Amino acid sequence: MTTALITGATAGIGAAFARRLASDGHSVVLVARDEKRLREQATELHDRHGIEAEVLRADLATEEGIAAVEERLADPTRPVDLLVNNAGFGNKGEYLEVPMADELTMLKVHCEAVLRLTTAAVRGMRDRRRGAVVNVASVAAFVPRGTYGASKAWVVQFTQGAARDLAGSGVRLMALCPGFVRTEFHQRAGMGTDNIPGWLWLDAGKLVDAAMRDLARGKSLSVPDPRYKALVSAVKLAPRGVLGGITSRTGRKYGPR
Ligand SMILES: NC(=O)c1ccc[n+]([C@@H]2O[C@H](COP(=O)([O-])OP(=O)(O)OC[C@H]3O[C@@H](n4cnc5c(N)ncnc54)[C@H](OP(=O)(O)O)[C@@H]3O)[C@@H](O)[C@H]2O)c1
Repeated sequence: MTTALITGATAGIGAAFARRLASDGHSVVLVARDEKRLREQATELHDRHGIEAEVLRADLATEEGIAAVEERLADPTRPVDLLVNNAGFGNKGEYLEVPMADELTMLKVHCEAVLRLTTAAVRGMRDRRRGAVVNVASVAAFVPRGTYGASKAWVVQFTQGAARDLAGSGVRLMALCPGFVRTEFHQRAGMGTDNIPGWLWLDAGKLVDAAMRDLARGKSLSVPDPRYKALVSAVKLAPRGVLGGITSRTGRKYGPR
């Protein structure tokens, strides 16, 4: 039996990964901050699919939280075969409106934690000559979009670079770039979503199914859904000045301060 560790497993895309992987028969290690939600989810996955579901409460914005997950990933007696670095969040406001502490927390969760957890997992995977890492980025990685887009661009570049360095090792790495997905993300960030057209929304379960297909095909970059594939292709051709104007408004309508 194989084991998958998923960060940000209590909600949205991470919860969808946990459900999909448990239904495929993987044991799961569920990581997030809300221990009550983690335990409820672990019980449900265990009861429904008969798999082992472990709970690891960790705040990936803290040194202790990252270190605890690193330790679990590096434990040779309980190998992790698939790591999904998914935990993440949005900040409310545009540049200069976001407190510096919140910007730095974002870099800690989206970049430092992803770097350290990937590295802790991949060392053992390389020795065992098998394993995979999915790092959840965003289509925001391809457009000028504040610290959020910049942090996700880092995830894409880091993941594809590491995938290339590890080619032939038996370890696969893939950056997953979703568009808008119906989760708790926008509500938690205090972002209004009524200016996002309905046709742009993705379902978390379908997104995860597409990501798992791309991982099986050996892709290092996954942009699920034809709508977003087309948008990303168009973005690569469009002048950055034009892009900045359009993308800084879409999906960034902030609620009352
Ligand atoms: N939804 C979208 O439209 C969208 C689009 C592109 C990319 N993404 C990316 O997809 C990923 C998942 O987002 P989502 O949409 O599923 O959001 P979500 O529904 O808000 O879920 C976020 C998850 O991350 C966990 N989390 C947040 N901060 C954490 C921290 N400091 N330490 C540990 N866990 C933490 C949360 O659990 P706790 O609160 O229990 O810790 C929760 O399980 C993120 O990386 C996001 O940037 C989302």
